[in-house]
Amino acid sequence: MAFLDKHKVLEKNATLLLVTSLLVVTVGGAVEIAPLFYLENTIEKVEGVRPYTPLELTGRDIYLREGCYVCHSQMIRPMRDEVERYGHYSLAAESMYDHPFQWGSKRTGPDLARVGGRYSDEWHVDHLTDPQSVVPESVMPKYGFLANRKIGPEHIAQRLSTDAMVGVPYTSEMIELARADFAAQADPDADTDGLLERYPGANVSNFDGQPGVTEMDALVAYLQVLGTMVDFSTFQPDASR
Ligand code: HEC
Repeated sequence: MAFLDKHKVLEKNATLLLVTSLLVVTVGGAVEIAPLFYLENTIEKVEGVRPYTPLELTGRDIYLREGCYVCHSQMIRPMRDEVERYGHYSLAAESMYDHPFQWGSKRTGPDLARVGGRYSDEWHVDHLTDPQSVVPESVMPKYGFLANRKIGPEHIAQRLSTDAMVGVPYTSEMIELARADFAAQADPDADTDGLLERYPGANVSNFDGQPGVTEMDALVAYLQVLGTMVDFSTFQPDASR
C-alpha cells in the first residue's frame, strides 16, 4: 500500500509529524473560524421573537439578582426526554436579546425556558411566596418579600438604552415611552394599545393582585413570557442551514 508507506515516513519522524499536524489544524481552523468574522449575525431570525417589555426586563433583572439561575436552566436540549417534558427545544433566537443568556448549568429545579403560560399568575405568586404550599417536597426558597417591594420606572429608559447599546433593537420610541409601558403592563385598566403594538403578545395583568407595581409583578411578567414568543404550531426549522 503505497499510501500507507508514505504515511509511515510521517509517523516515524516526530518533528515532521508535529509540523504537518500544526499545518492541518491551522488550515482547518482558518476555514471554520474566518467566515464568522464576516457574518453580521450567526443566529437565524425567527418570527415572534421581540425584545422584553420594560416590566419583563425588570423582572429579568430580579431573576438575576435573586440567583434563580443557580437552580434553574433555561435551555431545552433537542433530546426526546427533554422535549416531552418541557416542550419544543430552545432556539438560539429565543435568547438572542438576553444579556447575559440564562441557559444555566444546574437543574435543582425544572428548566424554565417554556414556563410562560403554563401556570396562572396566582399560581406563580403562591409558589414564589411559599413553594412548599404548592409542592410540599420543594427545596425552593421563599420569595414572598418581592410582593412588599414597590418599584417605579425611574431608571427604565436608561435600562433599555443600555440593552440597545449591545444590540437589542429597542427603538427611540420604545425608550421614550418605557415609563408608560412599564406601568401599563401591570394595570388591566390602562390603555395598552401602544404597549401591545410595540411588544406584540405582551401579557397585561395585575400579576400579584395588589395595587401598585411590585417586584413580584415584574418577576411574574417575566416568567409568563418565557418560551412563548415563537408560535410552534407554525414554526418551520430552516433545513437549508
Ligand atoms: C435552591 C434552588 C432553587 C432556587 C434558588 C430557585 N428555585 Fe425555583 N424551583 C426549585 C425546585 C426544586 C423546584 C421544583 C419544585 C417546586 O415546584 O417548587 C422549583 C420550581 C420552580 C418553578 C415551577 C416550574 C415548573 O415547571 O413547575 C418556577 C416557576 C420557579 N421555580 C421559579 C423560580 C424563580 C423565579 C426563582 C428565583 C426568584 C427560583 N425559582 C429559585 C428550586 C429553586
